[in-house]
Order: sequence, then C-alpha cells, then structure tokens
Amino acid sequence: MQTGELIGSGRSADVFALDDDWVLRRYRADRDAAREAAVMTYLARHGYPVPHVREPAMGQGRDRLPRTDLVLQRLHGPSMRQALRQDEVTPAEVGTTLADLLSRLHHVPPRAPGSPGDRVLHLDLHPDNVMLTGNGPVVIDWHNTLEGPPGVDWGMSALILAEVALRPGDWTDKARGALGALLRRLPRLAPDVVLDATDTGCLTQARNWRALDPATGEDGTPVLDDAVSLVLALLPPSPP
Ligand SMILES: Nc1ncnc2c1ncn2[C@@H]1O[C@H](COP(=O)(O)OP(=O)(O)O)[C@@H](O)[C@H]1O
Ligand SMILES: [Mg+2]
Repeated sequence: MQTGELIGSGRSADVFALDDDWVLRRYRADRDAAREAAVMTYLARHGYPVPHVREPAMGQGRDRLPRTDLVLQRLHGPSMRQALRQDEVTPAEVGTTLADLLSRLHHVPPRAPGSPGDRVLHLDLHPDNVMLTGNGPVVIDWHNTLEGPPGVDWGMSALILAEVALRPGDWTDKARGALGALLRRLPRLAPDVVLDATDTGCLTQARNWRALDPATGEDGTPVLDDAVSLVLALLPPSPP
C-alpha cells in the first residue's frame, strides 16, 4: 500500500497518513496486528472510544494487507502526554481521564469466556496512548491487549505513572499528580479492585508484566519495586 507522510512513531510502530480520514499503522518488527484489530472492532461495536479499523474492500481479505499493518481511522488532536507537556490539561485531569477510560473499558462485556470477572484489558493505558480529539479521548495502541482481571490494568497504568514520577526530570511532579488523581478515582469507579502487592495481587501481576517488557530491562527491577511502593503509598485508605 502506498504510504503517505509519517505522522507518528512510538516504540513499536510507525503511523503514516493515507488521507485526512485514515492512517496506516505498521509494526516495525514482524508482528501480527490481526488480534488487536479484532479487539478494537469489538470495542468500537460496544461504544468504546477506539479508532475504527477499516475493513478491506470486498474481495480483498485482510490477508491482502501485510500482517504488520492496520488501516485505522485518523485521529486529529494531541496525545494526552503532549497536552500535559503544553499545560493544556492538568495532571489531575490526566489521572481522572485515565481512570474513566479504564473503568469504561472494564464495563464492556468480556469477548471470550474466561474466569469470572475477566474483562478486555489494554495493559499499556498511559498518557501517550490516549489522543484528545474533538469527540473526546480515544485510546490507541492495543498491542498488549489481553483478557484478565481489571485490577491488573489499573496496576499497570499506575505503575507506568509511578515509574515516570520516580525519574528526576520535568515529568516528576506531573506524573505524581496524575497518579494521585488516578488512585483517588479507583474506590468509586472500581470498588471491587484491590491493588495489593501480595504474591498473587494485581499490583504484583502488573509489576511482573512490566518486568517482561524489553524496555524495562534487567536493571529496571529496582525501579519497579520503588514504583510499587509509591503506588501503595498514594492509594487512598480503604474504608473501615
Ligand atoms: N489513529 C491514529 N491517528 C493519528 N495518529 C495516530 C493514530 N494512531 C497512532 N497515531 C500516532 O502514532 C504514534 C504511535 O502510535 P502507537 O499506536 O501508540 O504505536 P507504538 O506502539 O509504537 O507506541 C502515536 O503516539 C500517535 O502520535
Ligand atoms: Mg504507543
């Protein structure tokens, strides 16, 4: 497929404009995008804010696209990270928006029968994977999506913010503010979720997923442990 201008690039994919309405998202490594395409289509059908996935025209099966490619609705607007950098949104708004997006996602009925309570999870829902469009926030980058307990998704978003909050630099205060706001929303939006760091706790599961992420690396383990401690320190006390 003829690609246009490169308009975005993250850790795993490049995104090219096709026209004003569509983009081509292409994995740089040989990864199959079919699974996330199916999840995004399912979520869109349930009213969840994801970019629409363009079905190939009649007679052109998805197999006509390289397995690394997806054609997605083009979103117009900054990522929530860009908006935070420019002070167009506050850290509290970022945390609240992430919390609302997590809660809405976990209210979508599960796709596949699994353990009771399992839901579609994003597992990488952070400010760079939310685009602020004229129609509200839209969640991109579904490459980690799985079904599982919602608490792991909350734990993952919290840990990612905590890791940034622990890194000295421009983002420290903003990330900490966003993390505090996210955790303050948790008891009301997801009263059943317990973010605990016991052996089988949601925070431990999220931590273990993060440890497997190649970007974390072996020397990232102490940072992850500190991030777990920061999340626990900022959790609102549970009601008596
Ligand atoms: N549907 C889209 N419309 C417009 N820009 C997009 C779209 N999807 C992604 N982008 C841009 O491309 C960047 C990388 O996309 P993303 O799906 O997050 O890939 P990665 O896995 O590499 O992080 C995003 O930060 C955003 O700037
Ligand atoms: Mg991304």
